[in-house]
Amino acid sequence: MLQLRLPKESRLKKGNDFPTPNGATNVKTFRIYRWDPDTGGNPRIDSYEVDLDDCGPMVLDAINKIKNEIDPTLTYRRSCREGICGSCAMNIDGVNGLACTTAIADLDSDVTIYPLPHMPVVKDLVPDMSGFYAQYASIKPWLRARSEAPEGRERLQSHDEREQLDGLYECILCACCSTSCPSYWWNGDRYLGPAILLQAYRWLADSRDEDTDERLDFLDDAFRLFRCHTILNCTQACPKGLNPGRAIAETKKLLLERKRKAA
Ligand code: SF4
Ligand code: SF4
Ligand code: FES
Repeated sequence: MLQLRLPKESRLKKGNDFPTPNGATNVKTFRIYRWDPDTGGNPRIDSYEVDLDDCGPMVLDAINKIKNEIDPTLTYRRSCREGICGSCAMNIDGVNGLACTTAIADLDSDVTIYPLPHMPVVKDLVPDMSGFYAQYASIKPWLRARSEAPEGRERLQSHDEREQLDGLYECILCACCSTSCPSYWWNGDRYLGPAILLQAYRWLADSRDEDTDERLDFLDDAFRLFRCHTILNCTQACPKGLNPGRAIAETKKLLLERKRKAA
């Protein structure tokens, strides 16, 4: 399987060096992509030496320490520090992942950090997710029922029906999968990409949803769905252990079944 891995040694210009803190003996270097639209100029790589004896265990702990104690201009997103919000997704040593669930101890030598690949950059490690979110909105990610709501209770599911959503509802929309997908890199304006397609399948798989045909009509498109070439970088990249490649394959199967029945 092709693995997405950006080169550790970048062709970007070397930027500032922030040297070893006084007296530190357990030091790791973090080489971080920097770009500031307000000051202009080309992107650069700044190097920060972090005392691991005075730092939490995760990559996000090191980035927070850099921001709080070394260089307050470093810009990135984070919120939950629990692998739940998806906002700290970035490319760490060539692999997309969540900074808050990636242990520093699992990374050898220097650590190189870039924003998620092939997304416009707002600043430093912050990618512009507006296109991604617009694609999410395009699949109408909510329950679309046409029948009357049952009186005095929710629309119920059997245990088996509920189980069909396992491996789908856990998606945190971090975009690690979509930004590791070569098809999404080249056609991200028209191809929905694995994250949004997994979310689309989440509603196709929901026994309470009654808009299956409309959802399939929307997806039945040479670009929106069929730009997936089953390379499976997406599945390998998912920090939640989900399988967007399978969700895409199941969606293609639903379309084929529908065509077979109509023939
Ligand atoms: S399986 Fe499809 S969505 Fe996943 S990386 Fe490959 S082309 Fe992209
Ligand atoms: S499928 Fe996984 S990698 Fe993709 S957006 Fe959801 S949680 Fe992130
Ligand atoms: S900070 Fe929320 S997933 Fe990392």
